[in-house]
Amino acid sequence: MQVLIHNASQILTMKRGLGRLKNISLLVEDGNIKRLGKIKPKANYRVIDAHGCVVMPGFVDSHTHLVFGGSREEEFAMRIKGMKYEAIARAGGGIASTVKKTSQADEETLFGLGRERIEKVTRHGTTTVEIKSGYGLLPETEYKMLHVIRRLKHRVPIDVVPTFLVHAVPGKIRRNDYMELVTDEMIPFVASRKLAVFCDVFCDRIAFSRKESKMILEAARDHDLKLKIHVDEFANIGGARLAAELKCTSADHLLVSTKRDVIAMKRSGVVPTLLPGTSVFLRLKDKPNIRAFRAARSEVAIASDFNPGSCMIYSMLKIVALACLSYGMHVEEALIGATRNGAKALGMFDRIGSIEEGKQADLVVLDVDNYMKIPYEFGEDIVRYTIKKGKIIWKR
Ligand code: NIG
Ligand code: FE
Repeated sequence: MQVLIHNASQILTMKRGLGRLKNISLLVEDGNIKRLGKIKPKANYRVIDAHGCVVMPGFVDSHTHLVFGGSREEEFAMRIKGMKYEAIARAGGGIASTVKKTSQADEETLFGLGRERIEKVTRHGTTTVEIKSGYGLLPETEYKMLHVIRRLKHRVPIDVVPTFLVHAVPGKIRRNDYMELVTDEMIPFVASRKLAVFCDVFCDRIAFSRKESKMILEAARDHDLKLKIHVDEFANIGGARLAAELKCTSADHLLVSTKRDVIAMKRSGVVPTLLPGTSVFLRLKDKPNIRAFRAARSEVAIASDFNPGSCMIYSMLKIVALACLSYGMHVEEALIGATRNGAKALGMFDRIGSIEEGKQADLVVLDVDNYMKIPYEFGEDIVRYTIKKGKIIWKR
């Protein structure tokens, strides 16, 4: 089956910079990008008219916590009144409250919720999504979450990348015992059953220390899991440097990282991943040092961090806008971060993240005639088509 996308105002290939093309058509064959060029429609082509539209790679949301039970709107309201995320967490809210709701929910319920949320992100142009566990903490619910993520992977039209997240120490268990449970039992179980591609750990003063994070990630690496890390969201406890030392695929949040951290990550090939939705949602004052990332020529990814506590934003279009408005990223940097560099943060750039011959035809057709209108029309539903492997999976 051949699909021709033609008449686009702009095609952004993301090959070098934005890779802007005009008066060019795009031919898709068997789910892959076959050719870019001046191509005339033929009788056997299915034609998609992209007149007045920007065509770009589908969004790659490389950091989400999209499977969970319950919701936490009261915490949102409390934060608006001035209470801090960390204080809410210490008072028994935060992650612990979602752990309770997720443990109580059965697999079917979690699957249904996950499917609905994936449908929503698809409407906003996301064609690949990473999903973390981490709201179980103990084996039973962690494995339940990972099973749900696996089922979703087989049942939804977009790519799903599963991550085993070591998120917090559960109550009623000693820290050291939990560390042992994670490294000696849970990681080997998850890896042997291929329940996750990545292992991630929340390295911060309210979660795991640098030393504990190192032990967890080293155990994961020994079991052939790829590595991610939540670092420098609230306090800099050396997590970014650890990410560099362990050559993690990505390090995420990075609000309080130093210039040296940025350079160390660049040298080790770690993809720095920024989560502007979380900054806005939690009203955090610290902002990532964008100048330092620019100076180091870092390939910065941006992602939603979709989760019930610190960011309920489904739309990568809005994340792009917030990266510009809240972090001062250039429009071009934000768009590259949400596609090309997102794919790099998942180790998938060989297949997705740019429009190049031979790559998967994962595309989004946007109802704007130039790319600068993408964040500018903030809040508008500008997705006309979401296309996964050459098939229209969402159409307005
Ligand atoms: O990435 N920082 C830690 N974990 C999540 C939030 C989890 C929650 O509050 O439920 C995050 O922001
Ligand atoms: Fe997160």
